[in-house]
Amino acid sequence: MQPKMTRELFDKVILPVYAPANFIPVKGFGSRVWDQHGEEYIDFAGGIAVNALGHCHPRLVKALQVQSEKLWHVSNVFTNEPSLKLAQKLIDNTFADRVFFANSGAEANEAAFKLARYYAIQKYNPYKTKIIAFYQSFHGRTFFTVSVGGQAKYSDGFGPKPADIIHVPFNDLDAVKAVMDDHTCAVVLEPVQGEGGLASATPEFLQGVRKLCDEYQALLVFDEVQCGMGRTGRLYTYQQYDVKPDILTSAKALGGGFPISAMLTTNEIASVMHPGVHGTTYGGNPLACAVACEAFDIINSPEVLEGVQIRRALFIKELELINDKFKLFREYRGKGLLLGVELQPEFHNKARDLLNVAAEFKVMILNAGSNVLRFTPSLIISEDEIKEGMARLTKAVEKVVNA
Ligand SMILES: Cc1ncc(COP(=O)(O)O)c(C=O)c1O
Repeated sequence: MQPKMTRELFDKVILPVYAPANFIPVKGFGSRVWDQHGEEYIDFAGGIAVNALGHCHPRLVKALQVQSEKLWHVSNVFTNEPSLKLAQKLIDNTFADRVFFANSGAEANEAAFKLARYYAIQKYNPYKTKIIAFYQSFHGRTFFTVSVGGQAKYSDGFGPKPADIIHVPFNDLDAVKAVMDDHTCAVVLEPVQGEGGLASATPEFLQGVRKLCDEYQALLVFDEVQCGMGRTGRLYTYQQYDVKPDILTSAKALGGGFPISAMLTTNEIASVMHPGVHGTTYGGNPLACAVACEAFDIINSPEVLEGVQIRRALFIKELELINDKFKLFREYRGKGLLLGVELQPEFHNKARDLLNVAAEFKVMILNAGSNVLRFTPSLIISEDEIKEGMARLTKAVEKVVNA
């Protein structure tokens, strides 16, 4: 007999690395999700900045259906049309000339860091291996990516780490200058730190880091896994700054909910690579690429991109109404619909509680650390859905404040 699919079953059969909510979503459409009992939730979390077009967008469903009847997988022993199409779209709309496809953000970053090291070693010398990264950054969960990420809670406890990685405070150009040298192969950063609390890079910082990288022949790597693909109102966040990276990684919203990631770079940097140096079985599979092509065309439109700031303003307007009543929020952070709200000191460490109580009141939100609430909804969420979700959040806040 099949066991009942309950939250309790999770605690028996899944590796205990997550602490999911008590309800189990079974269906989603747009910015609404339904659980096993037919209860409806407003989704302000968007699968952690993944479902940029909401759930089951009809055009994505159609693209998936059409491709599912043609070709799912052939491996990289062969190329395929959807991956070539998607690569061309990415190239036509960014600084890049070359694309490597993988399946998750961590894998795209793993490829980026390996490429940065490989390029420096091939082109300069075997000692040019230092990677400069930032505290509070997050780049994924492989051992190389947690080691480059600036949060000990994710990287410690697994034995010796990859060497020659140094962390300095984000937005502190002097700190970068102090550690930059001829042995540096790359500086790695998120233009908006997604998991680390939604700090945005200042223009002066990005411009300064770019200059330093040029001076020391180091590559500038932007991790846009969370802040890319329209989330901050441009296709990629770097396009708001007058600063081009040498390597950029993209994932999450790239597939609109279907797993896919990409690492973008230039012809010059790509020139050191040859068959066999790096690879993945599933990367660039036709099914993922067909969905991502459709997601790309929808997201990369003036209508969707321009709508991001309008929706951010609506979110902040509604959050201000909550704040007028409960004096809970201290500061708005992030860009576009990568929106962070820092809690007042008296509510520090309450972010996760708020998230749990919000779920009780049927609205899905996120935290980023223990003091910041995070909203990463669909880029096309409607005004009504925002208002309804905020009405629910108001009740949740009331419960937490009065607890
Ligand atoms: C900026 C950033 N980089 C990398 C990752 C890792 O992506 P994935 O979980 O798809 O491996 C994340 C995930 O949250 C992220 O926010």
